[in-house]
Amino acid sequence: MAGFYYFVRTEVTAIKQVPLVQATSSMILAADIINGHNQVLVTAGTPLRKEIVALLGKHGVSTVRVTAPESPNKELSAVPNLISAATRLSMIQTMQHAFRNRGGIAAYLPGLRECIHKVIEELSGHGNLLIYLSDIRQKSDYLYGHCVDVGVFAVAFGMAMGLSRDEIYILGLGGLLHDYGKNCIPNEVLEKNGPLTPDEFEQVKKHTAFGYNVLRMETEVDCRIALMALQHHERPDGRGYPWGIGGDKIHPLASIVAVADVYDALITDRVYRPRIPAHEAIRIINAGAGTQFDSRVVDAVNKIVVPYYIGSAVRFDNGSAGAVLRINSQEPARPVVWTREGIVNLLHERTLQIVAVV
Ligand SMILES: [Fe+2]
Repeated sequence: MAGFYYFVRTEVTAIKQVPLVQATSSMILAADIINGHNQVLVTAGTPLRKEIVALLGKHGVSTVRVTAPESPNKELSAVPNLISAATRLSMIQTMQHAFRNRGGIAAYLPGLRECIHKVIEELSGHGNLLIYLSDIRQKSDYLYGHCVDVGVFAVAFGMAMGLSRDEIYILGLGGLLHDYGKNCIPNEVLEKNGPLTPDEFEQVKKHTAFGYNVLRMETEVDCRIALMALQHHERPDGRGYPWGIGGDKIHPLASIVAVADVYDALITDRVYRPRIPAHEAIRIINAGAGTQFDSRVVDAVNKIVVPYYIGSAVRFDNGSAGAVLRINSQEPARPVVWTREGIVNLLHERTLQIVAVV
């Protein structure tokens, strides 16, 4: 359906993506399906009975993610959403209010704090935190959805890195507010459908300092939160902005937000390019380890982000192809793959690389 987007947010593991026409009542929906107006059409956990399939078809949904009925991967068999649809929607609404009301961010801080506590509570409830996520948002909602997702990713990465609960809380708030300075950038620049001129890019760069200043002057938030707004575009090799500082001069929490920011931007449709598949985004993040991104954060991403669905058809760098059979929880980007030549466990076949998802 033209102009009507869905986002399907899923976490983890034994999930298969199937065409809606192949859905059967024994399959359980693995993630909430939400329409472009932020309304939940069908919640995760719903069996795909005929009437549900008909409803989804009517709304233009062509594929669904379902829990594999008999997962060979028992360790990863529980499949809750990363965060609940209700929490995500309330976060987006709070962010919309906070961004649109130029009267001051301070009034919205209690709501944002509550959101992050909820995210931490929900993510802490997952015994084995793995992120398996696909997200197609309405482009006009990009900024709010992006800030929410950066907050959630940052919390997940912080947990994988073993940060303290206090640091994770500060990190989550910093993720939510990292782009607050974009309030000060004209919309025609922010939403420009094409490459920015050098002048426009200079304007965009200022959102870092704007955000820092607003948070420092208008609120009494922990100074690390303002630092995340200021430094999330700095890079370890000193080629970021606004100051071009590198290495240890970048606050570690800002380094986490930097990776969450880029990862979410890569896997989301933008006005100037379509989304990049998760496995490709992971490859880009890994290619930048140590120069573009803090290697410790990249390690955390590799530990918890699952780039393939079970059943995905993949191609190797040696030309052979197969289907993902099982996710290895210790290294989710190196799954077990069924091929014509036999079963290949990428955990042990270290020289073999997946180069494409067909
Ligand atoms: Fe930014």
